[in-house]
Amino acid sequence: METITDLKEKILALKKEKNAVILAHYYQEEAIQEIADFVGDSLELSRKASQVEADIIVFAGVYFMAETAKIVNPNKKVIIPDVNAGCSLADGCPPDEFKAFLEKYPNHTVVTYINCTAEVKTLTDIVCTSSNAKKVIASIPEDQPIVFAPDKNLGRYLIAETGRDMVLWEGSCIVHEAFSLEKLIDLFKKHPTATIIAHPESETHILKVAHYIGSTSGMLNHVKNSTNNTFIVATEAGILHQMQLDNPTKTLIPAPSKEDNTCACSECAFMKVNTLEKLYQCLQDESPEVHLDNGIIKKTLLPIQRMLALN
Ligand code: 13P
Ligand code: SF4
Repeated sequence: METITDLKEKILALKKEKNAVILAHYYQEEAIQEIADFVGDSLELSRKASQVEADIIVFAGVYFMAETAKIVNPNKKVIIPDVNAGCSLADGCPPDEFKAFLEKYPNHTVVTYINCTAEVKTLTDIVCTSSNAKKVIASIPEDQPIVFAPDKNLGRYLIAETGRDMVLWEGSCIVHEAFSLEKLIDLFKKHPTATIIAHPESETHILKVAHYIGSTSGMLNHVKNSTNNTFIVATEAGILHQMQLDNPTKTLIPAPSKEDNTCACSECAFMKVNTLEKLYQCLQDESPEVHLDNGIIKKTLLPIQRMLALN
């Protein structure tokens, strides 16, 4: 029977033969993170994707991320292990509905969180990720009203942090909305010295009790640099793999979800449709491939480049 090690070796050989590079998000299963050439959060991955020299990019993440890699590399082949790796935020913002929504706010600057489709990005002035959202908002003149989409939770957090006039699209991440405040408070009572860290896609009541709020990489850095030993982590559970590797002696406790604790609610089912087997198969077949219309690529490049230029 083929072991994970056999499969990893086959992937490495194929990767070399085809001059491919594997980019993976921290929410991917451990075996994929281990075999990737680069693991990062959304911002790091888009930056890395714009610097790739290989002929093929295997994007182990969700579809909007693979689309972004294609937009910044229109002449390269971008493949994804499972084309069904969607995202509740991207799915919750259909381009035609977003277009109609924007017609109500003609003089607004449109900022979209990178978790949206390429078509929605064509309607955008500047893209942001959770790492640089505050910086992106700060780059817009103070008296300029803003439409922010699609994540209402990140949007509310940004309004509270920046005091800006922002109209929000009503989208959310099903994973980050799964955390229970009541259970989190109970857990904290059992670990009163713990630091609660949360991703800004979480609901406002969770963010209110968090000691630190940041993107995936922000949280990894925070735990690494902190002198504290115990952390309650309110984000997708995939982050715990790298966090524990970075901090072997620290105690990391996943934040509890509203449902019973066996439901794996804090795992993104979209991210987890990618598996090592599918990654091997997609590299072998060079498919499923991300295809984007040239017109869409042209229109989306500018709002993405504006974001990348800020960093
Ligand atoms: P970051 O990678 O920007 O932290 O975003 C998390 C996320 O939900 C990715 O889909
Ligand atoms: Fe989308 Fe949430 Fe999954 Fe990230 S964790 S890909 S925002 S559904």
